[in-house]
Amino acid sequence: MTGGVTTIATTQQSSRPEFRLVAPAIRMAPSLLSADFARLAEDVAAIEAAGASVLHLDVMDGHFVPNISFGVPVIRSLRPRTRLFFDAHLMISEPMRYAEAFVKAGSDHITFHIEVADKPAALVEHIHRLGVSAGVCLNPTTPVSAIEPVVASVDLVLLMSVWPGFGGQKFIADVLPKVGELRKRLRPDQRLEIDGGIDEDTIASAAQAGADTFVAGTAIFGTSDPPAAMRRLQALADGAGGSR
Ligand code: DX5
Ligand code: ZN
Repeated sequence: MTGGVTTIATTQQSSRPEFRLVAPAIRMAPSLLSADFARLAEDVAAIEAAGASVLHLDVMDGHFVPNISFGVPVIRSLRPRTRLFFDAHLMISEPMRYAEAFVKAGSDHITFHIEVADKPAALVEHIHRLGVSAGVCLNPTTPVSAIEPVVASVDLVLLMSVWPGFGGQKFIADVLPKVGELRKRLRPDQRLEIDGGIDEDTIASAAQAGADTFVAGTAIFGTSDPPAAMRRLQALADGAGGSR
């Protein structure tokens, strides 16, 4: 795939629903990080039945971020249990080294951090050659200019609204101007995802600023009724309009 592709569906996993990039509808991307790790398949099935189409997978290596979450075996085990689009967020120091393993495990999309990519353009090309879409992620204080070498070739930009490594942190509202800046910089077929501290109090401001894809862990899986929480967040984001 190259920049400007119309979907981030894969040929390899074409039986799953397409996650359309062109004129994207607002999407929730529930984060598995806040699910019950002893009942992952059940938690995932519940949000799929409630209308989710994307599952955000937070991979942490204990090196790029000060926490370890899960990796390839968990993703491989979940793959046959759901048709959700697997949005892998690699918070790892060597994305080039591991991207292929995450695609083989069933990821439909790979996002890497610009802060650790020595050759980001080559990495985007590598991910596309693996048959999936590619995203680039910026930490809260990383300037938009840092992604200049790949901004035209990625399918998605992920902006952290907390410091990566842990769920349940407070939304950093200072990133909102950067959401607007990125929105202006991206084509309509490129998604703008925001990650961290998204809840019923913060999602509307992120949508108004121009984000179209919302990662939420605690605000979905941390509640007693994840499907209802997800639907409420989706409605708030839809209602906020956004700048698209
Ligand atoms: C943080 C992760 C997030 C996290 C979000 O490093 O990238 O995806 O799961 O969690 P909440 O929604 O609880 O802030
Ligand atoms: Zn994430």
